Amino acid sequence: MISIKSEREIELMKHAGHINYLTHLEVAKHLKVGITTKELNDIAHKFILKNDCQPSFLNYEGYPASICVSVNDEIVHGIPGKRKIKNGDVVSIDIGVQYKGYHSDSANTYIVGKASKEVEDLVENTRKSLYEGLSAIKSGAKISDIGSKIENFAQKNNLGVVRELVGHGVGTSVHEEPDVPNYYTKDTRILKEGMVIAVEPMLNLGTRHVYMEDDDWTIKTEDGLPSAHFEHTVLVTKDGYVILTGE
Ligand code: MF3
Ligand code: CO
Repeated sequence: MISIKSEREIELMKHAGHINYLTHLEVAKHLKVGITTKELNDIAHKFILKNDCQPSFLNYEGYPASICVSVNDEIVHGIPGKRKIKNGDVVSIDIGVQYKGYHSDSANTYIVGKASKEVEDLVENTRKSLYEGLSAIKSGAKISDIGSKIENFAQKNNLGVVRELVGHGVGTSVHEEPDVPNYYTKDTRILKEGMVIAVEPMLNLGTRHVYMEDDDWTIKTEDGLPSAHFEHTVLVTKDGYVILTGE
C-alpha cells in the first residue's frame, strides 16, 4: 500500500525536510581537506538534535552512524570513520531526519578542491538527472516515468545507472512503498497527490556494476571509478511536485 499523507503529516514532513536541508548546509560548511568523515557525522548529529529532530539512519537496520559519507568509488552507505578527506575527493553526504515520527531523506555530492573535467561532469550530470527524474512527477503520471527519464539522461551522458539500490516512499519509516528505480520498469502504478517519495539517482563514471564492502554496508563501484548520488524527498501534487528537503 502506498500511503497518502494528510495535511498534518505533510506539515511534519516539511519540517523534517527543512531541517535535513539545513543539516546539509552545516555539513557542507565544514567539508574541507583534512576533516574526517566521522567529524562530519558528528557535526550533522549534533545539529539534528539541536533542532529537536532525530537522525533517521542511526540504528536503522543496525546502521552504526547518523549519516552516510561515501567517497570516490563508494556509491552509498559509507560508514563515517577515520578517513580524511583529500583534495579532489568526490564526497556524497546522505542525511535522514525525523521529526515527530516523520522522516526525510536527502543526499548531495560535492567535489572537494579540484577534480578532472570528467569527474566534474559526472557530479553535475548526476545532479541534473535527479531533476530530470523529478520532472516526470505529477498526479496521474506513472512511477516508472521517473526512472525512464533518469535512465535516458544517464545513457545520453555515458554514465552507468546503479540498479541494486532504488528510491522509495517516505513517511513514518525512511523506506516505504513504492520502490522508485532509476531505470525503466514495467511497473504500471500511478502517482497520486499526497504521496511522498525520495528520488535518488546513483550514477557511475564507469559501468553500473557494484559490490558490497566487508563492513556489509558500503556499496562500491566494481571498476573502482567514482560515483555520484543526489536525493530529494518530494510531495506529489496535482500538477507536479514540491521538494520537502529544500529551503
Ligand atoms: N538514503 C539512504 C537510502 O535510501 C538511506 C540509508 S539508511 C541507512 O538508501 F541507514 F542504511 F544508512
Ligand atoms: Co533514500
